[in-house]
Amino acid sequence: MVFARAPATSANLGSGFDTFGVALSHPADTVQVERAEETSIEVSGAGAQFIPTEPDKNVVGAVADALDAPAHIHIDKGVRPSSGLGSSAASAAAAAVALNALYDRGYSRADLVSVAAEGEAVVSGEAHADNVAPALLGGFTIVRSDDTTTSIDADLPLVACLPEVVVSTRDARGVVPDAVSMDDHVETVGNAATLTAGMCRSDADLVGRGMDDPVVTPARAELITGYEAVREAALDAGATGVSVSGAGPSILAVCREGQRRSVAARMVEAFADAGVGARAYQTRVGEGATVF
Ligand code: HSE
Repeated sequence: MVFARAPATSANLGSGFDTFGVALSHPADTVQVERAEETSIEVSGAGAQFIPTEPDKNVVGAVADALDAPAHIHIDKGVRPSSGLGSSAASAAAAAVALNALYDRGYSRADLVSVAAEGEAVVSGEAHADNVAPALLGGFTIVRSDDTTTSIDADLPLVACLPEVVVSTRDARGVVPDAVSMDDHVETVGNAATLTAGMCRSDADLVGRGMDDPVVTPARAELITGYEAVREAALDAGATGVSVSGAGPSILAVCREGQRRSVAARMVEAFADAGVGARAYQTRVGEGATVF
């Protein structure tokens, strides 16, 4: 029997739509895998009632198939589905490292990124390695359009605020503009490069400045009740940058040391003022999936 843990992740960070991702130190999913003739799946924890257990409908079933590693798989969800915090990527990454160890397949973490991304594609119809890459590799990751991935170790305090609202990924992708102006392109490239330099230096100010995004975030913000007020509250409390986490509805704030508590409290309060319940994870850039 093998146990593994893989973290929640936040994709995009504003200027890196479908490209940037970051692993969070918590929350996380854990899986327990045991060899079996056929794959079977059990799910417990956050939002377990919304997750199918049929192997052909669950991301870990697709991962077990891709690794030719049938198993009884128990997933304990720490990452709520549809949170914008890479819930299915956390399960896929944890299952990938656990089954790789259980069957002694010897794949590298980089190999497992494509296995887990394929698993996501089987289940959701679209593969975005921008969540599975940080879930497996940890730190800050950059996924290019050809799926080659670079990871950078970074250490920054973060707050991920999860409101009790539902944003469908289909709607969140539906509002993404089809084209960008040259001005917006130039601004986005400058911001993305600034953010990357900030991650290399674990510099919260540079990262925060680089999160601004004139293209995707303004469209998606409309889908999250209270977004602007929550963003303003986080910045007022000292956050250096704020953006929609993945497809939403979570909102990610980058902080300097010692500011997470007040940023988290102000974000939850601003959601409450907008009539929306929310919880905030005081977290930081974390490591990728681990077998224990
Ligand atoms: N980059 C993806 C998006 C992440 O923002 O839609 C969610 O799969």
